Amino acid sequence: MSGSPSPFLFACCREGSETSLKNDVLRRHGTLLTPAFMRPQFITWKVRSPIDESFDLASPFARVSGLSLGQCKTGEEMATRLIERSLRRVCLHVFPRVAPEDADIDWQSLDSIRNHIASVLQNHGIKLDEGAEHVLNLVVDDNPNALFFAGLRKRRAEDPQTPGGLPCLSIPGHAPSRAWLKVEQALGWRGWDKLDLRGLSALDLGCAPGGASLALLDRGMKVIGVDTGDMDEVVLRHDAGGFRHLRMPLSRLNATKLPSAFALLLCDINLAPPEVLPHIARICDSIQVERLILTLKMNQPIFEKRLDEFVNFIRSFAPSPVVATQLAANRKEVCVMAGR
Ligand SMILES: C[S@@+](CC[C@H](N)C(=O)[O-])C[C@H]1O[C@@H](n2cnc3c(N)ncnc32)[C@H](O)[C@@H]1O
Repeated sequence: MSGSPSPFLFACCREGSETSLKNDVLRRHGTLLTPAFMRPQFITWKVRSPIDESFDLASPFARVSGLSLGQCKTGEEMATRLIERSLRRVCLHVFPRVAPEDADIDWQSLDSIRNHIASVLQNHGIKLDEGAEHVLNLVVDDNPNALFFAGLRKRRAEDPQTPGGLPCLSIPGHAPSRAWLKVEQALGWRGWDKLDLRGLSALDLGCAPGGASLALLDRGMKVIGVDTGDMDEVVLRHDAGGFRHLRMPLSRLNATKLPSAFALLLCDINLAPPEVLPHIARICDSIQVERLILTLKMNQPIFEKRLDEFVNFIRSFAPSPVVATQLAANRKEVCVMAGR
């Protein structure tokens, strides 16, 4: 532990999920944490007992969380707080408090803030290192004075690879649905966007009209898609010709007739988790799947309370580790990613 413990925690979430996050944290931590400060997509809690930067909020509704170092107006203030905690090496993540769900973020302006803060920290003898044990999160507010909130986190394996879990992506014109962004954000979260997926096979359950399949085809994958609905022409006529549509409900899919192994299984079917997950378990029983990206539809309030039950059930059949989070592009959904 570096420095004295701070009495506040912070977390960032998607727009509209602030209440879900607060309720989830209350269920997990009870009276240890009391909500203190709330802005759209940002909450802090006062902590009753001493904790340090390795404390895990463990809420899938928190895209990023950690120990709060409070509001800062200048890089100098930031450097002083790090030096007070004897921290001389950090990974610096700068991202906006308000992240639009379609990820249209002005990263250029954020880069110039990052460059400025980075040089101030370096002038104070603080080394910036992508692989550092501690991530310094600077959450930039949307007011003209560019006030920012600072938070510190001891890195965990399941943490997002990108600042704020927000990849620099926007939906391309040829994508037939927002599912393109969801799958790309999930790949980016786990660092799977850096893998060479060319020639590998994916099974896309609930594939119509085809945003997610298109993302995978564009990455050179071969895709078998299952859906009762119509696929967009852009997928059917994809250059690589790597798409095959099984037009049927999930309940009729005979997994023993599929190829025996897939590098990736996606599911974005708009059925409730208790309906869809047993089918995924059944499929994973018959075929070998290296990684899964499952979108759990949280369209009944009770599902938020049952989230751990769903994730634990996924752990019973999916490859480790199993990571659940609400991506910026998710609506009333939580994304579960499994595998390495
Ligand atoms: C959110 S959309 C999927 C979007 C898609 N992933 C994309 O990339 O465009 C949900 C899909 O689930 C499909 N669906 C719903 N119930 C289904 C079932 N029982 N079996 C197969 N597909 C189903 C719907 O037809 C719909 O296309």
